[in-house]
Amino acid sequence: MTTPILAVENLQISVRKKPGLLILRGVSFTVHAGETLAIVGESGCGKSMTSLAIMGLLPDAVERTAGSVRFKGRELPITDNRAMRKVRAVEIGMVFQEPMAALDPLYPVGKQVLEVIEEHEQLPREMAWKRVIDLLTKVDLPNPEALAWSYPHKLSGGQLQRVVIAMALACNPDVLIADEPTTALDVTVQAQIMRLLKRLQRDTGVAIVLITHNLGLVAHTADRVMVMYAGNKAEEAPTRDLFLSPRHPYSRGLLDATPNPERAAAGGGVLREIPGTVPSIADPMPGCRFAPRCPNASDLCRARVPEPTFEGAHGYACFHPVARETLT
Ligand SMILES: Nc1ncnc2c1ncn2[C@@H]1O[C@H](COP(=O)(O)OP(=O)(O)O)[C@@H](O)[C@H]1O
Ligand SMILES: [Mg+2]
Repeated sequence: MTTPILAVENLQISVRKKPGLLILRGVSFTVHAGETLAIVGESGCGKSMTSLAIMGLLPDAVERTAGSVRFKGRELPITDNRAMRKVRAVEIGMVFQEPMAALDPLYPVGKQVLEVIEEHEQLPREMAWKRVIDLLTKVDLPNPEALAWSYPHKLSGGQLQRVVIAMALACNPDVLIADEPTTALDVTVQAQIMRLLKRLQRDTGVAIVLITHNLGLVAHTADRVMVMYAGNKAEEAPTRDLFLSPRHPYSRGLLDATPNPERAAAGGGVLREIPGTVPSIADPMPGCRFAPRCPNASDLCRARVPEPTFEGAHGYACFHPVARETLT
């Protein structure tokens, strides 16, 4: 196996000065060059905190209390804001749910893409501007020369997200982290943005970390999936394995709650919600944090935290996993 481009190891994030309040409880995963890793889980499971930690953008109220983030084998200085400014544009790009949060309403969008390039590369203005137009063309924006001079409020949500994707890719990062990149957009636009990301990945070889609560989005885009629950990694697997044979009851529950046209056409496809809600980080629980919602939970689950078990690339943290389907 090659060295992963991004390696997160035992990452623990706590509320500052309250080390007992754990937001991430020791999460590990890797991302390899050119692949797409999806991180899924209900709201409040720690997906955004994971991505913000990698980017060195954790809110002041929280801090890393253990673990490491390595990029191409080198430890990232995630608490050093100055050092991370460079990492953020040049090595790891990021796209958030709300494109307006990444844009300044007072400047034309092309200028904002230009600024990213000029901050990190010594290029004559003319060449930098040409790169801006190239980038806006690559993200399929119409009339890029004119659009570059438009202010953000003139663009639709989907167009703004394309501009933000152009900004994130302006300095050719090796990794793009997209946190709910389509959640704020119309359904038809969501599919266009996902197709765009996949095409840009084919053209540039950028690895993508796609964070989403929408499992439907994952099936056709991700190579591997990591399922998070309440600050832990519940399961990770190649996408096909996860969809065909989830082992963690939480993953099974998420899949059963996801609309699936194929299953519906075959006469199945009743949507079942997972009862209950994600526990608060302040909720003390000696065992598995999914136990109160889990159909398989036993006294053991309520008493002890399950360690991850691996079968090849498929890993899950559960004492009573869902029976394995025979993969064909
Ligand atoms: N500013 C904050 N201060 C303290 N705790 C926070 C803060 N922001 C989020 N949290 C806690 O972190 C948990 C994980 O949040 P987040 O990573 O945003 O979840 P997700 O992206 O999976 O919806 C939340 O459930 C909340 O308890
Ligand atoms: Mg989030």
